[in-house]
This record gives sequence, C-alpha cells and structure tokens, in this order.
Amino acid sequence: MNGRVVNQMNKSYDKNIMLYFEGNNNPCECISEENQQLVREVLSKKEFTGKAGDKAELSFLQNGRLLNLVYLGVGKKEEFNSEKLRRTLFTALKGEKGDYLISGDTNEVVLTDAITEVENYLNYSFDKYKETKEEKFLSLDIFKGETKEDGFEGRVLGEAVCITRDLINEPANVIYPETLGEFASKYGKEFGFQVEIKDEDEIASLGMESYLAVARAAEKRPKLIVMRYNGDPANPETITGLIGKGLTYDTGGLSLKPTDGMVGMKSDMGGAATVIGAMTAVARMKVKRNIVAVIAACENSIGGNAYRPGDIIGSMGGKTIEVTNTDAEGRLTLIDAITYSIRNEKVSEIIDVATLTGGVIVALGFDATGAFTNTPEMYSRLETVSKEYGELVWQMPLFDEYKEILKSNVADLVNSGGRWASAASAAKFLEEFVEGTPWMHLDIAGTSFASKAEQYYPKGATGRVVRALYGYLKG
Ligand code: BES
Ligand code: MN
Ligand code: ZN
Repeated sequence: MNGRVVNQMNKSYDKNIMLYFEGNNNPCECISEENQQLVREVLSKKEFTGKAGDKAELSFLQNGRLLNLVYLGVGKKEEFNSEKLRRTLFTALKGEKGDYLISGDTNEVVLTDAITEVENYLNYSFDKYKETKEEKFLSLDIFKGETKEDGFEGRVLGEAVCITRDLINEPANVIYPETLGEFASKYGKEFGFQVEIKDEDEIASLGMESYLAVARAAEKRPKLIVMRYNGDPANPETITGLIGKGLTYDTGGLSLKPTDGMVGMKSDMGGAATVIGAMTAVARMKVKRNIVAVIAACENSIGGNAYRPGDIIGSMGGKTIEVTNTDAEGRLTLIDAITYSIRNEKVSEIIDVATLTGGVIVALGFDATGAFTNTPEMYSRLETVSKEYGELVWQMPLFDEYKEILKSNVADLVNSGGRWASAASAAKFLEEFVEGTPWMHLDIAGTSFASKAEQYYPKGATGRVVRALYGYLKG
C-alpha cells in the first residue's frame, strides 16, 4: 500500500490506469505512435466512450516490455468531482492487487486526495480474526507531472475512516470502556491530541447520575474519555465540543432486546468511534480550532443491580428522569456528557454523534444521517461540507410539541416516549440539557453500520460521518 505521487513513468507497473473524461478517445502520449493507433482502434471496437464506469483493458509490447493499460471512464467533465472519482475507482478496482499507476487525459481528472483516500478503502478488510487473511495489497501511485501535491489529506481521511471502522467492527469482548479509552490514548499519542480518562469514582463525584445508572449492571466499568486538541490558541474561548455515544454494548438492559435486535449492538459505540476518527484527522491536518471530545463510555447490561423501568434517577444537569425504558439508554449517557462539556470544559458549541434510535432508520433508511439543531447555521454548514464527501445528511424537526411526549407524572422527564417520532423525541430530550448552547445532534443509527456493502462502504462498520465532521471542523 501507500501509493506515492510520482512525476516520472519509468517504473514498470502491474497496470497503468488511464482516467478519461467522456468524449476523449485520445490515447496517452506516453505510448508510441504505432501503439496509439492500436489503442484507438481497440477503444472504438470496445465502444469505450469515457462514460462513468466504462473500462477497457489492453496489453501490448512497448520497448520490449509488456504494458498493461486500463482505460477508465469517469463521465462528463462538467459533472466530475472527487466523489465520482472515489466511486468509479472503487468499483473498477475492487478486489485487485498489485502496483498500479494512475494518470489521466488531463491533470484535472487526477484528483490526488480522492485517490490516496480510496486506496485505503480498496485495501480495507476486517479479517484479523480469520484464519486466512488478505496478504496482498493494491498500491496506487499517481502520475501528476510536476505538481507538488502529495495526497496527504486524502490519506489522513482514508485512515481516519478505517480507524473508525475497526473500532466499531471489534466486538464487545474486545472493545469495552477501558480498551476504548486505551485506543483513544494510543491515537492521541500517535497523532497529537491529549487524552484524559476518568474512572468511576471521578464520574460519581462529578454527579453524572444518569450515565452511572446505565453503567451500573455491567461487569466492565464505565470510563469517561476526554480528548482535547488546541488548534486555535489565540481564541481560547471558542471551543467545539464533540460528544460520541459510547455504548460498547447495548443489551437493552432489563427492557431486554430480542436476539435479532441485540446481535449488532457492538456497534452502539459508533458515535464514539466517529469522534475518535475525526480527532485523528483534525490533529494530523493541524486544523485551526479548539476541540474537546467527550465519550461517556459504558455497557448497558442486565443484572441484580441494573437500573429498572420505573426508577427515578438524577442527572448532572439537575433534572430528574423517570426511566420508562432501559433501552433508551444512549440519551441518559449523552445528557451527562453534554452537561460536563458545558460546565467543566466550557465548550461554546456542541455536536453529538450517536447511534440513538431505530426511529431514524424508519424515517431516513441506511444512507442518510438525521440532523437536529437549535442553530440552523450549524446544519447548513454541515450540509455544504458533506456534499464534497458524498455523505448524506437531512435536517429533522425539533418542534416544541414533542416535549409533550417526554412529560412524566413523577419526574421532570421520562427517558422514552415510545415509538412515535422516537428520533425527534430523543433529540428533544437531549435539547433539554444544552442550556442554550448552539448544538447539533447527528443520529447515525442507520448510517454507521451496514448489513450490505454499498459504494466504497463495506458490510459492517462504514466510517460514515467521520469526513463530514472533519469538513465541518476544518471549515
Ligand atoms: N442503540 C439503540 C438504537 C439503534 C437501533 C442503533 C438500531 C442501531 C440500530 C438505542 O439505544 C435504542 O435501543 N433505542 C430505542 C429507543 C426506544 C426504546 C425509545 C429504539 O430506537 O428502539
Ligand atoms: Mn438501547
Ligand atoms: Zn443504544
């Protein structure tokens, strides 16, 4: 792996990929006159027009060496962008191994960062627990004339997405609060952000009662993971708080999930993994912004001391909560993380990322992330940057009427208002704790973990939203 940007074509590659805009059938000047004629003929026979996904492979001798050329169409120049290139390259090269060189009919078509990024996805597999592992890799060198581009940002984003995927794909017997914290610390050291881990005693003295109620029954004890990155020391008061839902497993608690609904719940720390992945990218790219990321990591388990449906619990924010469903646990951990980030870390805006509700999947399916915000500018900015990465986000409402759903007879709020508008009522529940801070909630229950491969996202953890978040933070 680890393709390089090269400015000479003298090395011999297993394949030479030529990216072509639609309508261009002019063979590369890198081949002899005679062979150019040959290529023209073959391309016209193969009806290669450069439409997105058109692919023509041909091999011939040049200077006594076998040259394997792959012409790859990327569609119309006017419609071309980095997402098109990532998708086209992934589809065309999926499963291939070897040393390839990518060049194009123009320098414009060779988007360096898109290529270094997709190289990571072409080589991604979570096979560490399999007897036979993938040992061969695909390396994509990039021919880009004399430019100084190195594709570093693409590589950083590709690696961040794969870090997030790995954390999510690891099962709950490997990733639990303590080991999740160890991974965060490892990446912090490697890439340049600070990590502090608070244990149960400290969590209790902070008054995080709601979080601790969820964590109570599990054998694996909770850890509050705090990551700090100071990219803008000149503006110490402007701090973006990132909150990641970090349920390393969600059994549903005493409101137990049926087996079919429980089996994927190792992925209920997808928000935490997304935030960790985004932190690696932000730190490596030296983004100019102060960020504090908070993960209230724990496991929602069952046992004699588990919190029960009907219990009334407190919260760090001060409101009391009647637990009507122990499976609506994510919000109970998030609200204390939100209060902590406001009161103790003095954040000036908050983005939380959470596999929060099945309801968001009913509403938007598996491709789009639901966004809720009390500050429309936060959403419009996310919407704009997401497009560059082909990430789909959609704004959902926070009508005051939803507060009715959260009314309790005996406490300030219930934690679950049942199934109607459950994604929105969950968001409304979080809003009760933001104390007027500009805030955006991203429900990634549908987008974080997939039951089938799609585009350059594999089956299992997708790593979606890492790049959207990075784009937001960088902007
Ligand atoms: N972790 C789940 C949400 C989820 C569902 C994530 C499917 C990924 C895939 C969350 O803790 C949960 O159980 N939510 C409940 C809330 C309900 C009890 C109000 C739900 O959405 O069913
Ligand atoms: Mn749950
Ligand atoms: Zn959950």
